Amino acid sequence: MDTPAKVAFDSREFRSALGTFATGVTVVTSRSSSGEPVGLTANSFNSVSLDPPLVLWSLARNARSLPVFANASHWAVHILAADQEALSNRFASRGEDKFAGLELESGIDDTPLLRGCAARFQCRTAFQYEGGDHIIFVGEVVAFDHSGLQPLVFHGGRYAFATQKLPSAAAPRTPALAGSFSEDFLGYLLGRAHFQFYRRLRRPLASAGISDDQHFVLATLTVADGLNALQLSASISYFLDGDLTKALDGLIARGFVTATTSAGEAHYFLTTQGRDFALQLIAAAKSFESQIFDRFGYADSTALKTLLRRLIALTDPGLADMWSVPDEGD
Ligand SMILES: Cc1cc2nc3c(=O)[nH]c(=O)nc-3n(C[C@H](O)[C@H](O)[C@H](O)COP(=O)(O)O)c2cc1C
Repeated sequence: MDTPAKVAFDSREFRSALGTFATGVTVVTSRSSSGEPVGLTANSFNSVSLDPPLVLWSLARNARSLPVFANASHWAVHILAADQEALSNRFASRGEDKFAGLELESGIDDTPLLRGCAARFQCRTAFQYEGGDHIIFVGEVVAFDHSGLQPLVFHGGRYAFATQKLPSAAAPRTPALAGSFSEDFLGYLLGRAHFQFYRRLRRPLASAGISDDQHFVLATLTVADGLNALQLSASISYFLDGDLTKALDGLIARGFVTATTSAGEAHYFLTTQGRDFALQLIAAAKSFESQIFDRFGYADSTALKTLLRRLIALTDPGLADMWSVPDEGD
């Protein structure tokens, strides 16, 4: 083959342009003739042919595993699942024993097989080609399995999640009237999602005669017990509907909260009964969250939370952060 003419590229720009092609993330493994497992993270994987079943990936010439792959009769490609970012980082490192502590299965020709992946392809080396500073490996797939787990994605030099688009039949309907809100309006989506999520949690609250405000006071005290009224009001200002004093008085009357005065200022603490009740609410809330996330899967759940966090940061008017315990006098 003729050597391609050398074009003067800005290599960083070239990488960034290539990075616009979103890929999955794989770990390719094999075993040396002396029995040592080898493996590396690779996103150069691609399908080549259905009949015969062929796949390819490319390996940098300076990779430590090159001599093993160059001589291996078999190797396995693992398509990583969305929650396997740590595994990807482990196999992208030059660590001494990348397999330490991993539960392995043994594949064809004793190829090490990893668990918990979206799919696995066991391959027989079919061809090797020169590919500039990489060697291209083409393998014939001799066995495969797939789990239905959502895949990890690599895009723009970072890990990402693949969220499926809605089918066009489920696309938001636009209202006939110009000037009215559509089903696609973010405020509607957030408001309705919040309402439907909390509707489930309000049932045990309503049967215990606890208002939404009181629920948020209890929830806040489980995170930071002993706050004063100012701190409490700052922590739940994004939610507080009515009167904090009224909410606190109700909780004290129920025996859920007790007030201790020091230096002329009241601090509010959960009683044992209050903590037990709050723990029941938290357990119910977490169980409802996991029911939803089980249906969404790991990638969509994490993507949803990531986007909500970004929205909160983007629109934050400077609210108190419930998870950093406020100093006295805040
Ligand atoms: C997302 C991602 C994709 C990668 N893709 C490849 C690839 O396709 N080919 C390659 O040779 N290295 C790739 N690497 C880099 C290797 O994983 C890394 O250099 C590894 O340390 C090589 O291992 P080794 O030197 O033990 O063979 C990738 C790294 C990451 C994080």
